[in-house]
Formats: sequence, C-alpha cells, structure tokens
Amino acid sequence: MKKMYFGSNLKMYKNIEDTIRYLKELASLTADISREEIELFIIPSYTTLDRAARSVDRSLVKLGAQNMCWEEQGQFTGEISPLMLQEIGLDLVMIGHSERRHVFRETDEEENKKVKCGLEHGFTTLLCIGETAEEKKYDLGPEVLRTQLKIGLEGVDVSHIGKIWVAYEPVWSIGVGGIPATADYAERMHGEIKKCLSELFGDAGKEIPVLYGGSVNPGNAEELIIQPSIDGLFVGRSAWQADRFNELIRMAKTKAEAEGR
Ligand code: 13P
Repeated sequence: MKKMYFGSNLKMYKNIEDTIRYLKELASLTADISREEIELFIIPSYTTLDRAARSVDRSLVKLGAQNMCWEEQGQFTGEISPLMLQEIGLDLVMIGHSERRHVFRETDEEENKKVKCGLEHGFTTLLCIGETAEEKKYDLGPEVLRTQLKIGLEGVDVSHIGKIWVAYEPVWSIGVGGIPATADYAERMHGEIKKCLSELFGDAGKEIPVLYGGSVNPGNAEELIIQPSIDGLFVGRSAWQADRFNELIRMAKTKAEAEGR
C-alpha cells in the first residue's frame, strides 16, 4: 500500500501546555500504527515549538513551523529565521498557507523564496496552494494551481524533490463556513497538480506527495483518501482533539486498505 500522510495545522490555537498534552496524547494513541504506512505531522504555533521538539517522540509525530523568513538573519522585525528553526530541530516548514496568502497578502514570489530557503536548510517543505471561490466560479482552478506551482517551485533543484510536499487547500473550503471540496473535484485538481509537477520535474515529480486540506472531517475523510491522486489529508478543526484525529486517521486508513489503495 502507498504511504498515507496525515497532518494538522494548529493555526493560532493552543498554548504551550495544551500543545504538549495534545502531541503526547496523539503520539500515544497512534503509536501502534506503523510509520512505514503513515506519516503523521503537526504544525503548532511558534511559541510551543521548542518545548514540543524536546517532549515529543519525533519518530511518531513530525513537527513543523507555520511560516519562515527567506533570510538567515537581518533587519526583518517579527520574522523567524531558518537558522532559528534549525536550532530547535524541526522536521518541516509550511509555506504559503491560504491564511498567509489572503490575510497577510503574501505573494507567489515570496513563497518561492521561502520554499528554496526551506529546502536549502534541509526542511521538508510543505507548499500550500489553492484557488479562491471567485476563481472556481470561472473554473480557473487548474490555471491558478499551475501558476502557484510554477512560481512557487521556480528554481528548485531536482535534488531537493524528496523534501517537497504539496497541500491543495481551496480557499473556499477552509475553516468555519468553508465548504469541503467533493471527492471528485478534489481528485480532478490533484490530477492537475500531479500533471504540472511531472512537467516541472519529470518522473521525480511523481514522487511528490499531494495532500488535500479544507474542512476534512469524519464524514468525508474516507471518500477523499481513496482517490488515486490524493496522498494524504491535511486537517484543521477535525484534528484538534487527539482522540478525534486518531479516529479519523484509523477510519481513513481502514477504508484505504479495504479499497486496495
Ligand atoms: P479546516 O480543516 O479547519 O478547514 O482547516 C484546514 C487548514 O487550513 C489546514 O491547514
């Protein structure tokens, strides 16, 4: 069976104590699942990362940062450097989350600088992409995703491919009031993403995992995970209680096995 990816972005929720408790509970609840079969990762807030990295079994739960500056140091007030994240010893960095792009107005060019910097500093680099509701209305999803990938991954060396992950998170599907993508629509967009990654990187591009995110919940996780082009689920609200996330992961995994995914 193909490896499945399950992760959660904790956004600006959970203080240090709550995050550590959550991570330990999640690690313990899922410890019996082979990490050959699943990759589990959590992206908590910056202030929790140092303690989280020291208190959690990283062979069970990989840890990531929600954003990162493209420079190692300098006059960048409020930013976090890749060297600072290396010092903590993180596994991954997330770049270009929808809320970074749409609330904080980050551009594809900025995401590209961050992606290259993340890879050069040895982090697994999770690039998030997705179209807005307005773009979807005109069926521009494929064009938008293609643009975000071509600019976001511009200049990335093929030798770094093994460390790139992509998350497809349509803007209209994320968070409170978001409408989850149907499995058919998500599969179609994932197909476009995979096609574009192959164009950019040849056969190596086929190895890049593409995760779906946006209102994933216990009611749609099974249908999404069995789609041939969906390699994993990137979950917000439905993952923020460890026991609920554990159940969602098991439900999706059982379904995927039953379908011979
Ligand atoms: P929700 O699952 O809460 O819609 O959030 C998804 C998300 O933004 C993950 O990065």
